[in-house]
Amino acid sequence: MRSILIAGNWKMNTHLKEARALGSGLAKIQVPQGMEVLLAPPFPYLYPVGEEIKGTSLLLAGQNMNPADEGAQTGEVSAGMLKDLGASHVILGHSECRARGESSELIGEKLAQALKHDLVPILCVGESLEERQADQTIQVIEDQLKLGLGDLTHAQGLDRVIIAYEPIWAIGTGQVASPQEAEEVARDIRAYLAKNYGQDLAEKIQILYGGSMKGENAYELLSQDNIDGGLIGGASLKLESFLEIIEEGEKLA
Ligand code: PGA
Repeated sequence: MRSILIAGNWKMNTHLKEARALGSGLAKIQVPQGMEVLLAPPFPYLYPVGEEIKGTSLLLAGQNMNPADEGAQTGEVSAGMLKDLGASHVILGHSECRARGESSELIGEKLAQALKHDLVPILCVGESLEERQADQTIQVIEDQLKLGLGDLTHAQGLDRVIIAYEPIWAIGTGQVASPQEAEEVARDIRAYLAKNYGQDLAEKIQILYGGSMKGENAYELLSQDNIDGGLIGGASLKLESFLEIIEEGEKLA
């Protein structure tokens, strides 16, 4: 059975004190059986937040990374650096990064590099409102999956990849996808994985939903057959609202 993953993407928010407080607040909870809880603070706070959650089962993620090992890449962060700071996961292909010019090909390179360094990639996919209205949702997502996952094989760690379905129109807008809308796309993603990589792998991979998830809507979203967790932005920035989502997940774990 797939576990439920609740992941907080802090984006470019918090200051050091707040980041530490969020980390230490979360460090006090007992992560429920059958669940994983992951925090993705801004890069400079990975280390201090990591210190706050040391000895707990909370997981740490980078919000992005560069596909190169090292070198002349001003402002960038490598997979090895994320590992050094205690990250086990990395978010890749977030729509906010795609909007700044990241192509699916580049995201595919990052994904392969993350796996090579033993980081679990969380590959974000999702359509814009225009694409949804033009009935292009599945096509857009299949293209993002195809280029993001490329020719990876099981041996290269494909079975450790996590997919986050994040409709762009639902991110930070308060306009959450209905559980049916989210489930329909999550089901299509799983069908795509089964067709291209086999049923066993498709059954194993966690598919998250992201986009205005909060305490009030989490249970219905998380109870969908093909949704195995949430990637949460706004509601992960306050301890209480993030805990509410974890509690909703616990009812299903
Ligand atoms: P949101 O962001 O929860 O604030 O909509 C989700 C995300 O971008 O991962």
